This record gives sequence, C-alpha cells and structure tokens, in this order.
Amino acid sequence: MSKHPDRAAWFEGGDAKCDVSPSPRGHVYRLVLLGPPGVGKGTQAELLCKALGTCHLSTGDVFRAAQCQTDHSPALKAALEAMRRGELVSDDLVVSMVSERSGCLSCSGGFLLDGFPRTAAQAEALNELLEQQGVGLDAVLSYELPLSEIVDRLSGRRTCSKCKAVFHVTARPPQKEEVCDLCGGQLIQREDDRPESSRVRMQAYEESTKPLADYYQKTGLLVPIRAEGSPETILERSRDALLALAVSSKI
Ligand code: AP5
Repeated sequence: MSKHPDRAAWFEGGDAKCDVSPSPRGHVYRLVLLGPPGVGKGTQAELLCKALGTCHLSTGDVFRAAQCQTDHSPALKAALEAMRRGELVSDDLVVSMVSERSGCLSCSGGFLLDGFPRTAAQAEALNELLEQQGVGLDAVLSYELPLSEIVDRLSGRRTCSKCKAVFHVTARPPQKEEVCDLCGGQLIQREDDRPESSRVRMQAYEESTKPLADYYQKTGLLVPIRAEGSPETILERSRDALLALAVSSKI
C-alpha cells in the first residue's frame, strides 16, 4: 500500500496510480491556488478538496516527501538545498517534475494546484501541459493578506514530523503541546519557516510569483480572495466566488 493512497500518482510520479480516486461533487474543478508563503493555501486546499471532492497537488509537498528519502540525484540535492534556504527550485527541475505527473491534470476528479506555477516560465509550461492533456483551468484563486498576518501564520506554524499535518501555535493549536493530534508524532518548525529563510521566500514571492496575478488577470481567470478570518470563513468566500463564476457561466 502506498504511503499516500489517495495521491500516489502525484507523490510518486511515473506509472504510480492512486488507489482511491477523488469523487467530484458536481462540477469537476481545475484550479490554481496563488498567494504568498504562509497565507493559508495548504489549509484552504485541504478544506476545498473535501468540499469539492477534488485532489490537492502541491509541489512543496512532493519536495518535502523527497527530503525524507536518501539517494538524491545531484539535481534534487541542489533543489532541496535551495528550498532550505527559502529560494525557489529551478524552473527546469520543477517543470520536469510536474511533467512526469501531468496525468494528474486530466484526472476525472479535477485538481487544486498549490505552489505551481510560481514563475512566468512555469505558467507557460502549465499552459502547454494542460493543452497536451486536453483540459483547461476554471480559475486561479489568489489569496491576499497583510504582511503582518502572514508573518504571524508562518512563525506560528508547526508541522508533524511524521504525517506532515499542519498546526498553528495559537490559531490551530494541538491538544497536547508539540504533539500531533492525528498520529502522536512530534511537531516541529519547518526549516524554511525560520526567519532568515522566510525573508528569502517572501522576496522570491514578490519578484517571481506576485507578477502571475497580473498574468492571470489578463486571461480573465484571476479570482482575488481576502484571506483574513478563520479557515472556514475563507473557505466560504472561496466557495461563494466559485459559485459566482458558475452563475456568470464562466465555468
Ligand atoms: P510550498 O510548500 O509551496 O510553500 P509556500 O507556498 O511557501 O506555502 P506554505 O506551505 O509556506 O504556506 P501555505 O500558504 O500553504 O500556508 P498554510 O496553509 O500552511 O513551497 C515550499 C518551497 O518549495 C518553496 O519555498 C520552494 O523552495 C519549493 N517550491 C515548491 N514549489 C515550487 C515551484 N513551483 N517552483 C520553485 N520552487 C518551488 O498556513 C500557514 C500557517 O497558518 C499554518 O500554521 C496554518 O495552521 C495557519 N493558518 C492557515 N489559515 C489560517 C487562518 N485562516 N487563520 C489563522 N491561521 C491560519
């Protein structure tokens, strides 16, 4: 049995198949989640996947899973080192990693892409992959939050060292300090959440990823969402925005 039965194709790539396919509730959604590090994309992806019956495709999760393996190729070793410093992994490596998993883009359950694309070159590559798979995007949900709140979310995040579940010291505290509610694993701070790496990540976001909002605005796909409030409030805003798109027949 795969470690990720429902996302084996995404985590393992190649010929790996998911044991459990997502079951869409109504429309099959194909979405990109955009936003600064720590804005809450992963948290929203988890909630949206449950609500829409789709699949969470995070490039960061694939790299973090690779961190736990040994025997890294020189390219992957360089990528993981860049990640620790808070820098972006090279476009070549990210695009080839997503290309290897491009079957996930035409999955009958749809998808939520989280953390890809992150540069103009990756956005172009995604267009090509979608075209090859014969599918298109419904929308790009762009989460927006003042910097002070982003810093608070990043610095307070704790991640389970075993199952990778995400907590927050005040907003989503575990029942027992530093212990995962789900598997009892130890909660740790992600290496790239340390202040020096977080600063580099914010800079990379400003320089390379933020301009993608303009790019998707021009294509008519951009849907800005305020990311203040509880995760459930933001989920409601996201669902309302998707409903509005459906009513205006954009999807
Ligand atoms: P990635 O994993 O994609 O990280 P990220 O985009 O920086 O996003 P985060 O995971 O930090 O935050 P999030 O927005 O998901 O927030 P979360 O929901 O956890 O990428 C990591 C690295 O991998 C990159 O730096 C790069 O090196 C590499 N990489 C990945 N993809 C790449 C690509 N395409 N190209 C190049 N390099 C790539 O929430 C944060 C905290 O806030 C949590 O503690 C959570 O509990 C809390 N929280 C969430 N919502 C709320 C709320 N509403 N109220 C209060 N607290 C909340």
